[in-house]
Amino acid sequence: MSVTILGIESSCDDTSAAIIRDGLLLSNVIASQSVHEEYGGVVPELASRAHQQNIVPVVDAAIRRAGITRRDLDAIAFTRGPGLLGSLLVGTSFAKGMSLGLRIPLVEVNHLHGHVLSHFVRRQPDDRVPDFPFLALLISGGNSQLVLVRDYNDMEIIGQTIDDAAGEAFDKCAKVMGLPYPGGPHIDRLATEGNPAAFRFAKPHIPGFDYSFSGLKTSFLYTLRDNLKVNPDFIEENRADLAASLQKTIIDILLDKLDKAVKHTGVKTIAIGGGVSANSGVRAAVADYCGEHGLEAFIPERAFTTDNAAMIAIAGQFKYMAREFCPYDAAPYARVTM
Ligand code: KG4
Repeated sequence: MSVTILGIESSCDDTSAAIIRDGLLLSNVIASQSVHEEYGGVVPELASRAHQQNIVPVVDAAIRRAGITRRDLDAIAFTRGPGLLGSLLVGTSFAKGMSLGLRIPLVEVNHLHGHVLSHFVRRQPDDRVPDFPFLALLISGGNSQLVLVRDYNDMEIIGQTIDDAAGEAFDKCAKVMGLPYPGGPHIDRLATEGNPAAFRFAKPHIPGFDYSFSGLKTSFLYTLRDNLKVNPDFIEENRADLAASLQKTIIDILLDKLDKAVKHTGVKTIAIGGGVSANSGVRAAVADYCGEHGLEAFIPERAFTTDNAAMIAIAGQFKYMAREFCPYDAAPYARVTM
């Protein structure tokens, strides 16, 4: 029997809707919000207002582009959290209303599960998908986590950041270099022209599989401060080298814990996800690491690295198949859980 799911994602600043039928992606529509650019970060109140404006046309477009009608849907999956509460509320309320109106089940999805399960979205029936168990490295603007994935609905965070996320390390360092927000993609571009060994920044020494990026940020700031005292053009003259060295340090920190977790768990497959998994250095480093250690690597298409509803729809499909439905009094949640 065929299963068709509408996924709705509204956890941060992208309004997205997607249709998945039996694991195959039929449509994935994303409306990004440009209102935040001038503020150098996402403004929650503006985000939720923009979601309200976008959600009806985005869901409508996803259904149309999939070549189906609302009546073909078996369930509606939505991101319940973590994320910005006002933004989540828009997607949650819309999904509830549509589920009630169509009399089809409602399925809640944890945004982080969505990132992990995005590797099961197929564009073609014979697209490769990961085997269980695998390790997922989730790296975004809000999270940095190592997740042991035993099954579609059985996963455990075995390590996470104790302070900043990997994306924040990129963005905050980029900001002090005078780069626009979000700085990650700018660092990525500049790093291709720089020497990754030009500067050395602090790496954390914390036990287990947890991450920390605040020490790196501080040592980056100190390097700029000390050098600017003697050379006011220091940043301008060293942009590419600073970017390359910063990126290399972030990659080393990520790979160090990934390696520990691989050895501890004995998994044979690695999957990465989240905004920072768009970084060309991170993608190459993970692919190389897996090649050297005989592991299988799943590096997402760039379209699936940022927030998207395709991953919510696929996670929703697996919950729908497990008959895990959501009550209508479910409220969104802001903080990380698994
Ligand atoms: O997953 P995501 O879209 O949403 C949040 O969790 O916020 O991740 C956004 C993060 C930002 O920190 C952004 O700078 C980072 O992903 N990012 C990158 C690249 N593209 C996006 N970081 C490094 N290199 C990139 N190419």
